[in-house]
Amino acid sequence: MAPTSLPGATDRRLASLLTLFANNATIAISGSRIAKEIGVSRSTVWRWVERLREVGVRVKGRPNTGYFLERVPDILTPDLLRQQLKGSMFGKRIHHFFRTDSTNRVAMELGYTNEPEGAVVIAEEQTAGRGRAGRNWHSERATGIYATLLLRPKISPVQAPLLTMMAGLSAYTAIQAQTGLQPDVKWPNDLMMNGKKLGGILTEMHAEPTVVRFVIVGIGINVNQEEFPAELSAIATSLRAETGRGQSRLELLARLLREFETDYHRLLRDGSGSVTERFAQVSSYATGKKVRVTNGNETYVGVTAGLRPEGLLQIQREDGALVTVFAGDVTETR
Ligand code: BTN
Repeated sequence: MAPTSLPGATDRRLASLLTLFANNATIAISGSRIAKEIGVSRSTVWRWVERLREVGVRVKGRPNTGYFLERVPDILTPDLLRQQLKGSMFGKRIHHFFRTDSTNRVAMELGYTNEPEGAVVIAEEQTAGRGRAGRNWHSERATGIYATLLLRPKISPVQAPLLTMMAGLSAYTAIQAQTGLQPDVKWPNDLMMNGKKLGGILTEMHAEPTVVRFVIVGIGINVNQEEFPAELSAIATSLRAETGRGQSRLELLARLLREFETDYHRLLRDGSGSVTERFAQVSSYATGKKVRVTNGNETYVGVTAGLRPEGLLQIQREDGALVTVFAGDVTETR
């Protein structure tokens, strides 16, 4: 079954045009050859080239001389991603947007309309990217990874938060393999580097009291941002800023999806320990970190004291009480 075409999603033939360009980089291809290969009129080719230019793809040339790419763009088109995800559960139904409000919002809608497990929603830019606790997620065009995965796991709703932690670990492994960096994961959903935020996970679900209907896992990673808005510059970083060089978003996303698939099947097969034990090993925040916990009006200080089997963080409070954090922000304090 081919993916349903969603309002605003990238036309599959436009994506083919990008793939054709990418596979013939720097070679001029005439408008009529393009029109023939992707099955549209020459005037459509011209219009699409203009649209690609508008979104920052550097297409040179004219209809009569032929078009070519000045530089292969790092655009996450379904065709290019699919080539890297042969045999993967995430390579089958990829919904790409040049711009959308939030990939989580789109994936949530897909969840309600019987879209199968494994669907992926990707955007080059989000105009209303969602972060945790109702915050906004800064989603500058074609610099970060903004992707949401649709899952239909046979788990109970109380286990769903494990998927957030698991996604953080999958991203951690993919980043490490691609860049050689050693990021950190902070309970429950942050990817950190040198005390700044590199990425985050936002999991949402539709569930009955005892059974999950579907879960969507939204992943945001700062990849090639060179600067952030003033209010974020002290707390956010990107892979480019940390490594000093640009990174392929396509390669990183493909790695991440492969890691995620392996981790997901391990979680379903082996249970929560596969996530909590690894999280405890990898995260500098799991034990012995002095933190401040803020949840609504409540704030307290304590030292992290490990994870409970269902993935909740424990804190030894200053007053001696051992408490479990169900929700809230955990920040390092001195
Ligand atoms: C956080 O606050 O740390 C979670 C951020 C999650 C951002 C991602 S970007 C892709 C997906 N779509 C959204 O609207 N949000 C998530």
